[in-house]
Amino acid sequence: MITDLFSLRDQVVVLTGGSGLIGREVVKQLPQSGCQLVVGVRDTDRFKAQLATNSYPEDIARPVCLPLDVAAPESVKAFFRALWEKYGRLDALINNAWPRTADWQAKFEDVTPESLYKNLCDHAGGFFLCCQSAAEYMKGQRRGAIVNMGSIYGEVGPHFPIYEGTDMTCAGAYPLIKGGIHTFTKYLATYLAPWNIRVNCISPGGVADDTHQHTAFQRRYIAQTPLGRMGRPSDFVGPMLFFLAPASGYVTGARLQVDGGWTAW
Ligand SMILES: NC(=O)c1ccc[n+]([C@@H]2O[C@H](COP(=O)([O-])OP(=O)(O)OC[C@H]3O[C@@H](n4cnc5c(N)ncnc54)[C@H](OP(=O)(O)O)[C@@H]3O)[C@@H](O)[C@H]2O)c1
Repeated sequence: MITDLFSLRDQVVVLTGGSGLIGREVVKQLPQSGCQLVVGVRDTDRFKAQLATNSYPEDIARPVCLPLDVAAPESVKAFFRALWEKYGRLDALINNAWPRTADWQAKFEDVTPESLYKNLCDHAGGFFLCCQSAAEYMKGQRRGAIVNMGSIYGEVGPHFPIYEGTDMTCAGAYPLIKGGIHTFTKYLATYLAPWNIRVNCISPGGVADDTHQHTAFQRRYIAQTPLGRMGRPSDFVGPMLFFLAPASGYVTGARLQVDGGWTAW
């Protein structure tokens, strides 16, 4: 059946960053594919309150959460151990968390070494450690799928005039991290292929966020985007499902730009 191509029925899928802008939408929609979504969160009570605002059909598994701080190596290990003890399988990982320091928006000239190292370590390191732990369990099953969230800024430089007159910028650490995540995806794709573990990357463009973005920035961003709008959190659910599902069974090491054409010119 062609619908089976996009079914994750009975699969156990891990998501990080499930309380964020994009993650919240994944938590709402992905369970409809039939999977048991297990969301790794720092604050389980806050996440349960978020979950209580969602409604799910009765015949699908509601998402659950387990404690996870991707920036703490012991927490990463404990999360995957607890997941394995509870479900005895791990079909997929979506690396989507975005740890960042309070001074993330500092100008390039003002970034301190401490801030730089913390961002590199927590964000890129968090992706690395989650892949490492997940792969350990997936290797035993000889099957698995990993999706890493990259960014347009892992591919192209920012067009800085879009930030002019606002307190927004693209942090200097971001391309360093996201470019690394793009290449790390290819590394893992070839490294884990013998165990039938596929590793792919989604490269999102800017997502509209009215609470944190200036309207001038949004207007300029849209003017540079061929499809004439910023991203919506729901734009990423289909690409994630594709990379996790049988439909992409022969796809590994790919990077899919989901950016309205931002990087097409
Ligand atoms: N938004 C965009 O325009 C955009 C564009 C390109 C790429 N992306 C990428 O897409 C992904 C999701 O972005 P987003 O905008 O949805 O992010 P977001 O709204 O800032 O949310 C970040 C998420 O990461 C979690 N997180 C932060 N530090 C963590 C830690 N140490 N351990 C576990 N979880 C942690 C946060 O949880 P708490 O609730 O605990 O803080 C939150 O759920 C990121 O990888 C980002 O780089 C986003």
